[in-house]
Amino acid sequence: MKKINIAIDGFSGCGKSSTAKEVAKRLAYKFIDSGAMYRAVTLYILQNKVDIKDEAQVLSALDAISIDFRHNPQTGKSETFLNDVYVEEEIRKMYVSEFVSPVAAIKAVRMAMVAQQQEMGKDRGVVMDGRDIASVVFPDAELKIFMNASDEARAKRRQAELGEKGEEASLEEIVKNFRERDLQDSTREESPLIQVPEAIVIDTSDLEFEEQVNKVLTLAKEQIEG
Ligand code: DC
Repeated sequence: MKKINIAIDGFSGCGKSSTAKEVAKRLAYKFIDSGAMYRAVTLYILQNKVDIKDEAQVLSALDAISIDFRHNPQTGKSETFLNDVYVEEEIRKMYVSEFVSPVAAIKAVRMAMVAQQQEMGKDRGVVMDGRDIASVVFPDAELKIFMNASDEARAKRRQAELGEKGEEASLEEIVKNFRERDLQDSTREESPLIQVPEAIVIDTSDLEFEEQVNKVLTLAKEQIEG
């Protein structure tokens, strides 16, 4: 059967990753969380006190970084590894969220990540979520989705996710982080978050998870079978 690439872009916390992950599972496609890659780079930079204003330091950090996703057969989930170390939980913490946007704005960082993402999708059969997937990584993706949701819906979901991991954050703190990141991500010079004209918009504010997944699956099947 024909395989397609599915790009899911949008603002922080709209449910892009969880939807993409489930869609990939149901189609038996590969799921790639591109945000996890920028988060892993950010974690490395913080751990190694790399000065992000110093290009030479950033380039040597990029040389020293290897990111991969490994399937955990016990949980059935894909987990992020940075230089062979499990970082899936660490990269989701607020201190990483607070520093990720400036790191993701660096041209050299983006070039390195985009090259790896394109390699992962070259045989198609990939569902990738991020900010520049439809515009830069897979401009030829057969299906392009742009997700959005209200601040309230996004913050409540993120608070529940953090709570499950034992991290507490107020709704105000989460909304503030979303707004700051959204602003930086959509106004940066290098491949900002944009909604490409051909993207299909899904507002997830009032959707149940299953409805979100089904909307994308229906659109995907049209492309696969059409
Ligand atoms: O999807 P996320 O919130 O985990 O992404 C973390 C940050 O990484 C986000 O604030 C912007 C950046 N990002 C990006 O610039 N390009 C992508 N394709 C994915 C994420």
